[in-house]
Amino acid sequence: MTMMKKLHMTAAVVALSTTAVAAQEVEVLHWWTSGGEAAAVGTLRDTLASGGVGWLDMPVAGGGGSDAMTVLRARVTAGDPPTAVQMLGFSIQDWAAEGALANLDALAAEQGWADVVPAALQRFSTYDGSWVAAPVNVHSTNWVWANTALMAELGISQPTTWEEFVAAMEAAEAAGHIALAHGGQAWQDATIFDSMVMGVGGPEFYQAAMVDLDPEALGSDTMVEVFNRMATLRGFVDDNFSGRDWNLATAMVINGDALFQIMGDWAKGEFVNAGLTAGNEFTCFRVPGTEGTVTFNSDQFAMFNVTDPEAQAAQLAMASAVMSPEFQVAFNLVKGSVPARTDIPSDQFDMCGQMGMAQLAEAAAAGTLFGSMAHGHANPPSVQNAMYDVITAHFNGEYDAATAAAELVTAVEIAQ
Ligand code: GAL
Repeated sequence: MTMMKKLHMTAAVVALSTTAVAAQEVEVLHWWTSGGEAAAVGTLRDTLASGGVGWLDMPVAGGGGSDAMTVLRARVTAGDPPTAVQMLGFSIQDWAAEGALANLDALAAEQGWADVVPAALQRFSTYDGSWVAAPVNVHSTNWVWANTALMAELGISQPTTWEEFVAAMEAAEAAGHIALAHGGQAWQDATIFDSMVMGVGGPEFYQAAMVDLDPEALGSDTMVEVFNRMATLRGFVDDNFSGRDWNLATAMVINGDALFQIMGDWAKGEFVNAGLTAGNEFTCFRVPGTEGTVTFNSDQFAMFNVTDPEAQAAQLAMASAVMSPEFQVAFNLVKGSVPARTDIPSDQFDMCGQMGMAQLAEAAAAGTLFGSMAHGHANPPSVQNAMYDVITAHFNGEYDAATAAAELVTAVEIAQ
């Protein structure tokens, strides 16, 4: 090969690799694929673009992120990790323990993250005293989303007890409506389960069963009652629930086909994306029995270790954008969640957002703020998945309530 030819080839290779990994570009793995979620991703992509950082999209559909985490594992095993990854709670800790995450301490110190990120979130954003993730929001998961026109038509006022909640759903069913919009996917079953655990047992029981994994709590009569309530909820779900995506369930409430959905406040993102307003066409209230408590999860961006200085610079630009107060407002207005910083006024948020922010602060102060099991903030993924299996098997009628509680004890023991 002539020298000239060799030079040309080298130039071609360089040109190719700079297109594949453009200067200042982040490849972002996330599971934000519904209408509201995609709109929220758009705010992040646009913010980065205005700072000259490109966005290589790596969406993996599937609420709750289990499928995204499977894809992530495959990418890392293949030696090709994405630069930035949406991640929840204990998963962040697992990846940090593997030494896979970039250290964000210098940026965090420069921007004073420690002063503005609540302790409940820092517990997951930091590992071994170092910042390994930037939190973009706080979602709370013990919400009911309701169609207000349907409530008015049925003469239903906001239920405040489990009995009133059941009575409201009976009224909807009697009038020929679907009482509870739900998608039969393990993470959705687990989301409503979290609220039943809190509603039946209260904060101490939630702590004992979901966080401390105390076998006595897991197998208790209280837990049997939790499963009884799950069966009651199952009775209010329509026949086509199996496998339905959460946003399609939300659409049933939006369209007036269903009265209620129990779901985290990403559901609000769907209402807002459909042009609806909280307190007008839809409303939100805490799952009856869980008032005064908040189960939460926080979407965070973890940066995977990369060696290319351009890629590292892009990671820092992204982390910095994510943590900016202006961005946290713009993003969370669309996403349905609330900011991951404590120094942001709530006046731009709607009724549900303002309630969410106030109740989050109150619960944190009162000691009634708990990580959601369903969303990876109560226990490690191995335990979480073991719980998912039992909850879904029971929801689908494989176990009665007493058997389910006993199975939960065994499954959790094996998973640890
Ligand atoms: C959660 C995530 C939210 C939301 C939801 C449904 O785990 O934290 O941001 O998108 O899944 O996809």
